[in-house]
Amino acid sequence: MDITFAIIICSDTRTVAEDEAGAALRDLIEGAAWRVVSHAVVRDDAGAIASAIASATDRAQADIVLTCGGTGLSPRDVTPEATAAACDRDVPGIAEAIRAYSLAKTRRAMLSRARCMQRWVRDEAGERTGKLALVINFPGSTKAARECWEAISDQLEHAMKMSAGGGH
Ligand code: MTE
Repeated sequence: MDITFAIIICSDTRTVAEDEAGAALRDLIEGAAWRVVSHAVVRDDAGAIASAIASATDRAQADIVLTCGGTGLSPRDVTPEATAAACDRDVPGIAEAIRAYSLAKTRRAMLSRARCMQRWVRDEAGERTGKLALVINFPGSTKAARECWEAISDQLEHAMKMSAGGGH
């Protein structure tokens, strides 16, 4: 099954050229024979992150948006709020699975406020097209991004089939 991904790095300091976590995610996605259709770095600003998510699903036509970073407890961490602003439905189980898997790796996993949500894709007029995209928050480190991918990647194909209205 062809699945398209967008990678959004939420960081005040990184650039795409020096973005190790995004590069690692790209390798993992392509290793699974899926495609990356956009890869951007956005500053830790809720409006900018929400716009980047909407652009990734509506313009770049990403089925799944992986954000990386900005999920923690510092005042600058706004990725979960930006995700909620851009999305329509909560998918708590994926975030719970990530945290459960991650807690076995590091107790610090409890310090991530990461969310997973669905967005109704919109056309140029702002009307819903009937397609649901999935947006998943990962923490920012390369190690964390790899671990979070390990936690959920085996369920993404089924998630996409269900999002498209398929049965089990
Ligand atoms: N989850 C996994 N799997 N592995 C990690 O190393 N790091 C934690 C946590 N989740 C970590 C993890 C740490 S140290 C923090 S502060 C939070 O994610 C938030 O990270 P962020 O602010 O980069 O989003």
